[in-house]
Amino acid sequence: MEIIRYRVIDSTNSTAHGLAEAGRPEWTVVVAESQTNGRGRHGKSWISPTGGLWFSVILRPNLSIDQLPITQFYASNAVRTALARATQSRLFTKWPNDLILGGKKVGGILVETKSSGGKGSFSIVGVGVNIRVQTSALPEEAASIYPASNMTAPPEGVLELILQQMVSDYESLNQPKEILNLWWADCLHKNQKVQVETTEGVIVGTNVGLDDSGRLLLAAGDGTMRVVAEGSLRLFPQV
Ligand code: BTN
Repeated sequence: MEIIRYRVIDSTNSTAHGLAEAGRPEWTVVVAESQTNGRGRHGKSWISPTGGLWFSVILRPNLSIDQLPITQFYASNAVRTALARATQSRLFTKWPNDLILGGKKVGGILVETKSSGGKGSFSIVGVGVNIRVQTSALPEEAASIYPASNMTAPPEGVLELILQQMVSDYESLNQPKEILNLWWADCLHKNQKVQVETTEGVIVGTNVGLDDSGRLLLAAGDGTMRVVAEGSLRLFPQV
């Protein structure tokens, strides 16, 4: 494993992407103290001042394009497990990979993949955790690990724990069902009514599970089962 450290960078995901394109091996890690153009899901920006943990890992899993979505559930399990251990608290995951502590989002994961010839050629797993970011810098729905928990470890210590967990869970990528079961066990909205904003409109239903690709299964009021691959989820009716 090679860890490349920056003080300030635009986005660790963008840098890791460039390195992966240039042929850097799996487990090359890019970490920055702050990012000037941190990126979140759905093209949103990600606030990344000092006091947070911002890093990206190059992975080259042997997966077909259809299997690639499992990578984000693997990553969210590993980060959640490591943070739960570090904070001695229970964390939940909001689909697909928001990390929730005390009802607030303390971290997120952005997985970007490149594929060729029907197979994944690399995945960039970008992880952002608000370790000790000033509340005033964060959006209303977000919080920092400290003071949401009593954990006082610095970002570097938490990085080490998460990377260890990612390495030890890596083989589980061959067992997607296990990954999804583990993810579901700590799902924030297990069997809850949710609403998901998709490009085709808002879908409301009770989240009864995930399918084999990690898509949301929502039992709608009209008795149909809706399958959602992409979107922004909120608990209902907390709009
Ligand atoms: C989300 O929208 O919840 C995902 C946020 C992912 C942020 C991390 S911070 C490190 C890495 N570099 C980026 O530009 N984004 C990810």
